[in-house]
Amino acid sequence: MENRINELTDKLNHYNHRYYMDSVSEVSDYEFDQLLKELEKLELQFPVLKREDSPTQRVGGTVTKSFENVKHRFPMLSLGNTYNEQELSEFDERVRKGVQADQSNLNLEYVCEQKFDGVAISLTYENGILKRAVTRGDGVQGDDVTANVKTIKTVPLKISKADLPALFEVRGEVFLSRENFEKINKEREESGEALLANPRNAASGTLKMQDSAVVAKRGLNCYLYSLVGENLPVRTHESSLKLLKTWGFNISDSYKVCQSLEEIMAYIHLWEHKRSELPVDTDGIVIKVNSFDLQEQLGFTAKVPRWAISYKFKAESAITKLVSI
Ligand code: IVH
Repeated sequence: MENRINELTDKLNHYNHRYYMDSVSEVSDYEFDQLLKELEKLELQFPVLKREDSPTQRVGGTVTKSFENVKHRFPMLSLGNTYNEQELSEFDERVRKGVQADQSNLNLEYVCEQKFDGVAISLTYENGILKRAVTRGDGVQGDDVTANVKTIKTVPLKISKADLPALFEVRGEVFLSRENFEKINKEREESGEALLANPRNAASGTLKMQDSAVVAKRGLNCYLYSLVGENLPVRTHESSLKLLKTWGFNISDSYKVCQSLEEIMAYIHLWEHKRSELPVDTDGIVIKVNSFDLQEQLGFTAKVPRWAISYKFKAESAITKLVSI
């Protein structure tokens, strides 16, 4: 029986990954559901054989009365904000002054990314298994929302790769796509329920729901943007994003390595206009020093890293033009 449970677990996890990450259906929905039902039945009969990465957790079923408060192994910091090119140029100057390198030879690269407007999350993996998902909370400790995060189909429950550190954390933003948000609100409107205010609040509320089966139905998603741990196998932020992608994490392809302030500003202007093409709301751009050596030299202030900053877009309402009357 153990063999069949293992076989079903691996198969279903594989089909799930192919479907949600590669958009490939290797089996029909019907076949998938049959296999899932078979696994559910076997797990009920032999609960001790249920694996930690069981795909049955994707559909929920865990009810959490109160979320356990957990201390982060590495604190979850915030970011400083900038609002214009001048402030960004001052950040670049501080970075250049802060690193102990021959200034004439300094090959400083930044990675520009979307500032996703969701809920920050930290995922801990031990020996390739997702052990814990914790919200940011106050940055020092947050809520253990593992059962709810396991319903997110793009979050790997198990990673089998040779180069995997025994322990690492991956951080990112849980979100509800605009599409799912609108779908939920349409259903709520039809059934006379109060509408959810915006995708961010909806994602945050969903993550804190007690019944993971309800969470599964809402269809949360998650973009990851940082690998945290000791003795990581990479030394730049860009290579960490690429590595995370090969490990099966959902990484937005929209990031860009920039060599100058001009390139950064071009990226900002591009995405300020193109952001409606993304599945998730963004409220700015995050600019990070690419080299981990330079990040370590720069370090942190009490609250924020000296090697990263955000550029906030002007509030949507302020830039909305009157298109027609
Ligand atoms: S990096 C130490 N990258 O913005 C660096 N944060 O205002 C920490 N956020 O708490 C964060 N998109 O929840 C980073 N691409 C991105 C992000 C991002 C959204 C959020 C995150 C953080 C907040 C800081």
